[in-house]
Amino acid sequence: MNFEEAKKKLEKYGQGHVLAYYDELTEEQKESLLQQIDETDFSVIKYAANPSGSQVRGKISPLGAMEIPQIEANRKQFEEVGLEALRARKIGAVLLAGGMGTRLGSDDPKCMYNIGITKDVYIMQRLIENMMDVVNECGVYIPLFIMTSDKNHEKTVRFMEEMDYFGYDKDMVRFFKQDMAPAVDYNGKVYMETKYRIATSPNGNGGWFLSMMNTGALNRAKELGCEWLEIFAVDNVLQRIADPCFVGATLLSGCATGAKVVKKAAPDEKVGCLCLEDGMPSIVEYYEMTPELMEAKDERGEPAYNFGVILNYLFREKDLERIVNNELPMHVVEKKIPYMDKDGQEVKPGTPNGYKFETLAVDLVNALETCLPYEVDRNREFAPIKNKTGIDSVESARELCKLNGIEL
Ligand code: UTP
Repeated sequence: MNFEEAKKKLEKYGQGHVLAYYDELTEEQKESLLQQIDETDFSVIKYAANPSGSQVRGKISPLGAMEIPQIEANRKQFEEVGLEALRARKIGAVLLAGGMGTRLGSDDPKCMYNIGITKDVYIMQRLIENMMDVVNECGVYIPLFIMTSDKNHEKTVRFMEEMDYFGYDKDMVRFFKQDMAPAVDYNGKVYMETKYRIATSPNGNGGWFLSMMNTGALNRAKELGCEWLEIFAVDNVLQRIADPCFVGATLLSGCATGAKVVKKAAPDEKVGCLCLEDGMPSIVEYYEMTPELMEAKDERGEPAYNFGVILNYLFREKDLERIVNNELPMHVVEKKIPYMDKDGQEVKPGTPNGYKFETLAVDLVNALETCLPYEVDRNREFAPIKNKTGIDSVESARELCKLNGIEL
């Protein structure tokens, strides 16, 4: 993209100030800025005008889960079907690791965080160790796709190389980058990080499938035979990935999606709750839970909205291709955005100073017609690390690891 084209694109979105320092830049910096302008999707900025969104929810009704007793009663059959699919490489695992992990507050990617006490135990190591259990059981490596972003790609790849992939088969691992979105002030003007760099942040985990497609990672998955893709978050150090029983249950259910869920610890627990919305599977966020929804009971007298999602979903690949062009709801999130002020000084704000734009993977569930909520024991499979201390923290995850006999 040349200067004139860049100028035209920016003016279309009211972002002419991005080129304010252009004449001061070196040739290399000019080129880098023009390339960033070319690659940045400024159309998302329109959502800053209505940050709370205008998404009107449909009619919410309960969606029962396949609960642990039912799973145990069918475990043998589920595992057989799951193992067969895993051996045929029909299942690919997709680690969503493009986030900034701001709450944890480490300069390194979250996967590099060391939760060990007497020895090194990195978050990524825990995930790979969990996958190795399945690899050892089925005798084949599960194709693993790791989504990173511009902000953490180099470090993540280097770390995996240095750690020799924690013993995983390197040829079965492929990295791909997600897209970035511009970060803006409250007036919808993009922040500049430096005179030649727009402030951007990863555009949420909702674009993972599109990014897999655009980067060629999806082709690789298909070449290997993957018909299903299981996405999972980087920070749950206990989750089972490509777990044969979950895979088998989902495949046999005939549903387009399987979602691991846990019984909520309390009706107002801060997890999204799987339900139906106008008959389609959907997730009600904890802040959307009304007193009526929290108090509703099912025919057994149990809470009707009792199952929280843990960001572990198995999707049928063909179905994702069908809906890939559907627009996902845009989430406008208030955040602290580092920027360069008028005097060219770098500012690291202590309080939120603008918006970032994200689409979310949970919204994909709503785009598909059917979903199997599959209950897992929260003490065995849900140890998310969002913060250093307190709820969902390094501390709480360490306790849960201990409970499960994992040495730290
Ligand atoms: P979170 O929202 O918990 O992670 O995303 P975060 O954005 O890294 O954390 P904070 O809010 O800044 O503290 C859940 C999962 O989705 C991934 C994260 O890496 C995590 O595994 N994610 C999130 C992406 O892959 N890309 C994104 O743009 C955002």
